[in-house]
Amino acid sequence: MQEILQELEKRRARARLGGGEARIDAQHARGKLTARERLEVLLDPGSFEEYDMFVEHRNTDFGMAEQKIPGDGVVTGHGTINGRLVFVFSQDFTVFGGALSETFAEKICKVMDRAANVGAPVIGINDSGGARIQDGVASLAGYAGVFQRNIEQSGVIPQLSLIMGPCAGGAVYSPAMTDFIFMVKDTSYMFVTGPEVVKTVTQETVTQEQLGGAITHTTKSSVADLAFENDVEALLQTRRFFDFLPLNNKEKPPLRETFDRADRIETSLDTLIPDNPNKPYDMHELISKVLDEGDFMEVQPKFAGNILIGFGRIEGSTVGIVANQPMVLAGCLDIDSSRKAARFVRFCDAFNIPIVTFVDVPGFLPGTAQEYGGIIKHGAKLLFAFGEATVPKVTVITRKAYGGAYDVMSSKHLRGDVNYAWPTAEIAVMGAKGAVEIIFRKDIGDPEKIAEHTRNYEARFANPFVAASRGFIDEVILPHSTRRRIAHSLRILKNKDVRNPWKKHDNLPL
Ligand code: HXC
Repeated sequence: MQEILQELEKRRARARLGGGEARIDAQHARGKLTARERLEVLLDPGSFEEYDMFVEHRNTDFGMAEQKIPGDGVVTGHGTINGRLVFVFSQDFTVFGGALSETFAEKICKVMDRAANVGAPVIGINDSGGARIQDGVASLAGYAGVFQRNIEQSGVIPQLSLIMGPCAGGAVYSPAMTDFIFMVKDTSYMFVTGPEVVKTVTQETVTQEQLGGAITHTTKSSVADLAFENDVEALLQTRRFFDFLPLNNKEKPPLRETFDRADRIETSLDTLIPDNPNKPYDMHELISKVLDEGDFMEVQPKFAGNILIGFGRIEGSTVGIVANQPMVLAGCLDIDSSRKAARFVRFCDAFNIPIVTFVDVPGFLPGTAQEYGGIIKHGAKLLFAFGEATVPKVTVITRKAYGGAYDVMSSKHLRGDVNYAWPTAEIAVMGAKGAVEIIFRKDIGDPEKIAEHTRNYEARFANPFVAASRGFIDEVILPHSTRRRIAHSLRILKNKDVRNPWKKHDNLPL
């Protein structure tokens, strides 16, 4: 018996060694952790239970029969993060460069199926040379099996991707279909075709990092949501992020203990809005003063800065924040910000996370670049997302809410549940200057008359009371009481039950 137990331990030790000491050292030399070390940081100590440790590939081509490594290049199983169940796979670059074989894909699919069956998220750690070339088309079939599961499980369980090494070719499409992608600076990259192919086809010279590194994807393409300095930071921040999410689409987000009183008054908010309506202020200040302990986990902070999105908590419960940022492009909505916020709103709605929206928006960004780029369709995404969302929606207009952008930003008309305005709010078809130039075109040569028309227009419309008199705003509130008001609204909306009409699925303007 003792011998049999020892044999098991020997086999386990062999599997844990992956591609061997030399390749582990090479991984470390690049500043990367191994697949197993990553899981140790990600999961609660001692919580990881591994599956399929002894699975080997079935390939006999190209001398592969002699090259079998138990586990076949991906570590799979489940564990917990702060006590909550999560399923994981971690690609092992030390085994055939983490390249995906038929059996490797089967292991991932098993984990994904189990996660869906029990209703728990999947976190995938990607560090792979792509399709295992020796496996040929079987590898492509394997990828497609993973893709199909990504699709079926979208909106059912949260799916997170960590990119911690290469992720290229068709392999990028699995992470692309997950809910959030986190990357590590300098050691990870994602692209459909690498620098050599780019050079051949377009004559562009570009490095891997420039083409598909963490900075590129979090500032230019918005493929990735957050970029971290190293593996450990990425994994620890993923633990923090995970805590905001429910385990599946039938559950509510977890409740965390907080010592921050819901009725906390923030007098500094009474002076947040500058006297000059064209002067910017930092919307982060309002967000952090409203959330429990000021804790805001911003997503895509370096892309489309004119809109802010991310998670926080109010009275211990997760909320999704969407906020115009007057510091960037005066808070205008454009293609990038509409896409960024629309996807976030849909994630929140899919996973029962109430949405708190802060509005200071002068309208949609004008220009040929925007129109040719399809701002009509992209802006419609955000409109669609807010309008279809059935989670609790609380909106606060701090200053400008002009034109179509007013409608889009979780207005009453898109089933906003509670819509507040600060006394500084200006809810109108457009700003006074633009309005006067259209209505009083005949007076344009007379600055005095125009100034008078502008004053009249401002007095009539540059306030929240016209909208409030129609019931489009539920209440004009004092800025210092914003947290208390939102907390109270969310408490009342806790058991909100609104359903969209039955349909196979909608036809979001993609
Ligand atoms: C089999 C692979 C492999 C692959 C790497 N290896 N990629 N084995 N299939 N796709 C092996 C190498 O032979 C090597 O084995 C070990 O992994 C480490 O690779 P290195 O090249 O030494 O590492 P590095 O210099 O860091 O380069 C990493 C790399 C490079 C950039 C990923 O290996 C590379 O370009 N690989 C090929 C990538 C590729 O063309 N993949 C197929 C793409 S098509 P030893 O034994 O020496 O340690 C695709 C289609 C997906 O993925 C479609 C989905 C629908």
